[in-house]
Amino acid sequence: MSLNREQMLAEMGITPQWVLRDDARAALEQEETPAPIAEAAASVAVTAVALPVVAGAGEAPVLRPTPAVDGLGWPELQQGIRECSACILCQQRKQAVPGVGDLKPDWLFIGEGPGAEEDVRGEPFVGQAGKLLDAMLASLGIARGEKVYIANAVKCRPPGNRTPEAAEMAACRPWLERQITLLKPKVIVLLGKAAVHSVLGEDKSLAAMRGRRFEHAGIPVAVTYHPAYLLRNLPDKAKAWEDLLFARRLLREAGQSHMFE
Ligand code: URA
Repeated sequence: MSLNREQMLAEMGITPQWVLRDDARAALEQEETPAPIAEAAASVAVTAVALPVVAGAGEAPVLRPTPAVDGLGWPELQQGIRECSACILCQQRKQAVPGVGDLKPDWLFIGEGPGAEEDVRGEPFVGQAGKLLDAMLASLGIARGEKVYIANAVKCRPPGNRTPEAAEMAACRPWLERQITLLKPKVIVLLGKAAVHSVLGEDKSLAAMRGRRFEHAGIPVAVTYHPAYLLRNLPDKAKAWEDLLFARRLLREAGQSHMFE
């Protein structure tokens, strides 16, 4: 099956109705063919999710240095994150949100930081933006928890869902770095400018960075829009789909290069 551009845009939800078809996985076998997006996204409201913007070079006070993370195993890492008080975000959180998913993932998606629902439930991307992220994963033929790990640049909710300050992301970065080291994903997808700032140290526009291969710790990195942004800018879902296909190509290339190691 191959879709023309108009049909592809419809599948990405730019027309009102997103439909989940039975042959979704079969469609994935065809390179560049957009698989259907899960129907969950059709019911997503477009308000009430903060638009991610680049973090400023804020001066958020660091309460205590982030503990040394080298050598931490997964359980100690999770516990360290839950008990962290390295920046002021710990003061208003209900709980820290380390991440969720497969501990031997192909994909690592990194967002900005927990929102209100994530703060309550202790899992990343469970609110409106999360429904869209799940739909994006479904379009790739993957489900939360299978072959994918989902994390954030900061593990505690910024009050009012504001963008995390640069100093808060810096305080949290050792946790993220240790997660990346332990997870060893084959590809990293950065969702929005905060994640890009945290992982790549770049403040360029996403438009300037999309479709380019970056690397972090030897792992290929692709950049795309944050799902919360996409909820407010529906036409850019088509670009996000292109970015996911690009990331899938990076993943496949990584798989092939491992075969020759
Ligand atoms: N937005 C994010 O960046 N991360 C979440 O976990 C939820 C919303």
